[in-house]
Amino acid sequence: MILVTGGAGYIGSHCALSLLENGHDVVIFDSLELGHIETVNTLKNLNLKGKLVDFIKGNLQNFEDINNVFKKHKIDMVMHFAAYSQVAESVKMPEKYFKNNVGGSTNLFNAMVENGVKKVVFSSTAATYGEPVYTPIDENHPQKPINPYGETKLEIEHILDEYDKKYGLRSVRLRYFNVAGADKESRVGEWHEPETHLIPNILKSTFSGGQTFQMFGTDYDTVDGTCVRDYINVEDLIRAHLLAAEYLNKGGKTDYFNLGTTDGNSVKQVFSVCEKVTGKTIPVDIQGRREGDPATLVADNQKAKTVLGWQPEKTLNDSVKSAYEWEKVLQTRINA
Ligand code: UFG
Repeated sequence: MILVTGGAGYIGSHCALSLLENGHDVVIFDSLELGHIETVNTLKNLNLKGKLVDFIKGNLQNFEDINNVFKKHKIDMVMHFAAYSQVAESVKMPEKYFKNNVGGSTNLFNAMVENGVKKVVFSSTAATYGEPVYTPIDENHPQKPINPYGETKLEIEHILDEYDKKYGLRSVRLRYFNVAGADKESRVGEWHEPETHLIPNILKSTFSGGQTFQMFGTDYDTVDGTCVRDYINVEDLIRAHLLAAEYLNKGGKTDYFNLGTTDGNSVKQVFSVCEKVTGKTIPVDIQGRREGDPATLVADNQKAKTVLGWQPEKTLNDSVKSAYEWEKVLQTRINA
């Protein structure tokens, strides 16, 4: 049985869904502070090969909450998504991020050790690299985060190294670039309140009552002056998690991998894909730069290909299409 922390959130719910589709039994642990009970209910009601055995509402900041999960269920492996992940908020409230992300993860790892669970797949981030000194970014790129969010994820990576040495807890850390898109059947999708990410914000602006899309910064040293990012489809990303689980089950050693496509797209390029997919002319409000945005973040993904046998398959167009289909579902739900 696999424990998914943060399974009611965006990426965690896609992982839970894919595990269920692949015949794994799953327990979801989520505080529902940012995740949604509707997402859990959707997963519960699907008739898939695997079973959502239990949903446990709890907070990783309380050791007993998470320790009790391991007492109640025989967990073989953990997929750890639960975290705060807003860069700008982390700059304003670093203590909130260290307490929750680092403190919560430490509680989780301590509970794992106490209960003899020795395998974890952890959601890390490109934000651990900080301002790129070369591009594309491979796993040997220096890790010098430029915000508290990235710091917390890097610290957790270090804790995992030490827990492997001391307790034999093996981990795969997956360093995500920009995750995009939604489930092909729109059963789950991206649902943040407030939303800060590029693609959902462009798409939301096309619905009635949506705010005009704001484009942050057009004077970067890039192809068209807007920031370039590596948009990795969420279903491709999750496939890497299942391969990482297989890798750990086969005795693979603690390791870390970038998850990106190697393909960079500027904000303006993403915007025009959104116009094409929606068939709408979308108004834009051009703003100054958003603080802390590096000009370019693009992954070198060779290591995940070689070691995990992973290969991203979906295009940016695919991600925008599935995000748009999901956004229609979400808008109906919100306005119901
Ligand atoms: N952007 C806009 N308008 C918006 C939202 C975003 O112009 O309404 C721009 C941003 O300024 C940036 C680009 O679109 O240039 C991408 O921004 P996102 O917020 O979608 O993504 P980030 O690259 O900032 O963040 C992603 C992840 C974070 C992670 C970070 C690491 O979403 O969780 O990469 O660098 F921490």
